[in-house]
Amino acid sequence: MKTIIEPFRIKSVEPIHFNDETYRQSAIEQAHYNTFLLHSNDVMIDLLTDSGTSAMSAAQWAGMMLGDESYAGSPSFYKFESAVKDITGMSIVIPTHQGRAAEKILFSILGAQGKVFISNTLFDTTRANIEFSGATGIDMICEEGKHPSIAAPFKGNLDIKLLENYIADHGSSQIAMVIITVTNNSGGGQPVSMDNIRKVHHICKKHGILMYIDACRFAENCYFIQQREAGYEHKDIKAIANEMFSYADGCTMSAKKDAFANIGGFLAMHDSNLAIQCRNLLVITEGFPTYGGLAGRDLEAIAIGLYEVLDPHYLHYRIRSIEYLTQKLHDAGVPVMLPAGGHAVYLDAKAFLDQIPPNQYPGQALVCALYTKGGIRAVEIGSLMFGKYDENNQLIPAPLELVRLAIPRRVYTQSHIDYVAEVIIEVFQNRESIQGLKIVEEAPLLRHFTAKLQPLP
Ligand code: F0G
Repeated sequence: MKTIIEPFRIKSVEPIHFNDETYRQSAIEQAHYNTFLLHSNDVMIDLLTDSGTSAMSAAQWAGMMLGDESYAGSPSFYKFESAVKDITGMSIVIPTHQGRAAEKILFSILGAQGKVFISNTLFDTTRANIEFSGATGIDMICEEGKHPSIAAPFKGNLDIKLLENYIADHGSSQIAMVIITVTNNSGGGQPVSMDNIRKVHHICKKHGILMYIDACRFAENCYFIQQREAGYEHKDIKAIANEMFSYADGCTMSAKKDAFANIGGFLAMHDSNLAIQCRNLLVITEGFPTYGGLAGRDLEAIAIGLYEVLDPHYLHYRIRSIEYLTQKLHDAGVPVMLPAGGHAVYLDAKAFLDQIPPNQYPGQALVCALYTKGGIRAVEIGSLMFGKYDENNQLIPAPLELVRLAIPRRVYTQSHIDYVAEVIIEVFQNRESIQGLKIVEEAPLLRHFTAKLQPLP
């Protein structure tokens, strides 16, 4: 088989700002050992997130010039609405400035003290928006999803038995909704099978529970279904997406991921009564229903991006490039989550730095080492992000200590990725020298964004 090439040519470039290890040591110290607090010009390869960091296509840039900035009834909105309806089949489309704004609106209406939101795994802002409404979020990831080194095709699946048992024990009246996150970002970018989505749909329908899809990476999930699930190998990505969304009552989406946009999102649904309440809140917090916090040009870029992401050549290259880095690391003995996910490579920091206990944040220690060694910025998805305290102020660690290297779409080439692999392997070979961290300052919610840390002696 020949090399899988990037399915694009590069028309416009940005410089990488080179720096050395001594410079980076001081930069990370000044950033309080939190890579969110770094200046991005001090980062050489930025794998902090795949969100809003995509390279837009020439067609998207051209579309931006067509953006119509009318306050109400812009043709750019109708183009956007038509693309979302075509792909999701939802009858009502509400634009928002990004994914979490859609979540905030939906959960402010449906969440309240005593309400429960069940998911395969809630993303951090999703959970925070649920908790902010007074409700509780419960993750029910399948067993194989809990083990980074076990290879299974659909490690993002929701545990059907757990859901059924929960309903049998507690009834369904307090369940505000079940949310299926595709792909399962916090659980390694692992996909959810169509079979699982269909089963969740049937359970929800039987018990009168709403089912929503957190659709940020819907196309990557559909590609995995096409490649791995019997009966889908001959279906195109759009048909798979149509079926997937047909099982849901609605969806939230961050267009900063699979729509290749730098900003944007939406809330879509079938229920017109709920939509009235959502639009009321939208007008107060985001904007008029035909722009919802976005410029007309953003709506154009999203409408175009939503179709570009369905291209099989793009998805083949995209998923293969994540697999390529995962494989290189795995071959060198680096503990990585297997199989490769859709948008990111996840290092298993618990195994990578087994000398550092969870209350010394091995994931964050590894993130800092990757930056200092190679100028690579990653993010911890472990006890810094998800840890809580018990009544004695002791850390209740997260189940997994992961480090995510999220790959922006259409941005880095294979040699950037080779460099990333070289740095990680070098850090792995010198892992004994890495020390744990302690938190010296933190916020009560979403602490990982702003926490200040210090290395332990
Ligand atoms: N849901 C999932 C699964 C996400 O990954 C994100 C964002 C959101 C919702 C919120 O969307 O950022 O547009 O408000 N994830 C980014 C990340 C930030 O780095 O994974 P948003």
